[in-house]
Amino acid sequence: MAFKILGVGNALPKFMLDNQMLSKMVDTSDDWITSRTGIKTRGILTDEKLLDLSVAAANKALNLANIKADSLDLIICTTLMGDTISPYHAAMVQKSIGANCHAFDMNVGCSGFVYALEVASAYFKSNLANRILIVSAEHMSNFLDYNDRSTCILFGDGAGAVVLEKGENLLSMKLITAGDDSILRVTRHAGNFPYEKFGFNKKEKSTQNVWMDGQQVYMFAVNCLVNSIQDAAKQANININEIDYFLPHQANMRIIEAARIKLGIAKDKILSNIERVGNTTSASIPIMLAEYVSKFKRGMKLLLSTFGGGMSGGSALIKW
Ligand code: ACO
Repeated sequence: MAFKILGVGNALPKFMLDNQMLSKMVDTSDDWITSRTGIKTRGILTDEKLLDLSVAAANKALNLANIKADSLDLIICTTLMGDTISPYHAAMVQKSIGANCHAFDMNVGCSGFVYALEVASAYFKSNLANRILIVSAEHMSNFLDYNDRSTCILFGDGAGAVVLEKGENLLSMKLITAGDDSILRVTRHAGNFPYEKFGFNKKEKSTQNVWMDGQQVYMFAVNCLVNSIQDAAKQANININEIDYFLPHQANMRIIEAARIKLGIAKDKILSNIERVGNTTSASIPIMLAEYVSKFKRGMKLLLSTFGGGMSGGSALIKW
C-alpha cells in the first residue's frame, strides 16, 4: 500500500546545550532533568538557519536514495514555523535543493511527520506523485522562554528528511486528533493592531510562547502511544511482538518507558536518542530513522509513533 522509503537524512545544530549550562540559566540540575526526562543535551541553532539544517537533511536523504532533486514530484515540510512565515519553509527548501516541483508546509505540532506520511500516501494512491520528499524541521529554541525551567529544558532544534517512492511498504496508519488548547499551547507574540482605537477591547498579550500542563500532557502522551500502537498493529493484523523496532516521538524517556511497559515491549526494540537531542517536535522521528538506518534490514517492521500539540498523535507501521 502506498509507499516505500528510499532515503533518510538528518542534521543537528553545531551547538549542543547541556544540562550543566542550563543549570546556570534557570534553577534546575542535571540530576533533575536526567531523572525526569532522560535528556542530557539538545541542539540549539546559533549562527545557522533552520533552512541550513533542512537542506543538509534533504540532501543526505536524496543522496542515499540516489535520486536528483529535479525528479521529485512534491516536497512536504512539517514545522511549527520556518525561518519566516512567508516564504513558507517548503518553498525555500525547494529552491535551495534545486527542485522544481510544488511544495507546501504542514503544521500538526509534534505529529507532523506521521501525518505527512499519510498525505504522501494519498498522493501516491491518487497517482499525483511518484517521488516525494518530506522534511521535518523545527526551531523550538526560537519560541522558548529560557527563564521557564519547566519547558526550556525539554526541547532542541533539528531536521530530518525522507525520500519516498510509490510502493507497498505502508502496512497501517492510525491518526488521532483531539482538539484541546487547555494543556499545551505554542503562541507567538501579538501584533500591534490598535484594537482600542476601533472600539474593541482586546487586552490579552502572550507573555509565554510555550505553555503546558506537563502532567496532563504526560497522561495524554502515554495513552496516545499505547492506543495508536495497538490500533496500528490490529489494522495490519499483526501481533505487537512481531514488530522489530519502535520509533516513538522523543518527548520524555519516562513517557516512552511507561508506554513500553503497558504494551509489554522488549527494551531493546525501543529506539531512542532523546538523551542527546531532546524533543525536536516533528523532526524527532525522521532524525531517528536516519540515525538508526544501519539497523534496518529489508522486510523488518518498524512502528513510528507520535503525539503532541493539537492535541494530536498517531502511529504508522511500515515495512523496511
Ligand atoms: N528543574 C527543577 N525543578 C523543576 C523543573 C526543572 N527543570 N521543572 C519543574 N520543576 C519543579 C516544579 O516546579 C515542581 O516543583 P514543586 O513540587 O515545588 O511545585 C516539581 O519540579 C515537580 O514538577 P512536575 O511538573 O510535577 O514534574 P514532573 O515529574 O511532572 O515532570 C515534565 C515535568 C518533565 C514536564 C513532565 O510532566 C513531562 O515530561 N510531561 C510531558 C511533557 C511533554 O512531553 N511535552 C511535550 C509533548 S508535546 C510536544 O512535543 C510539543
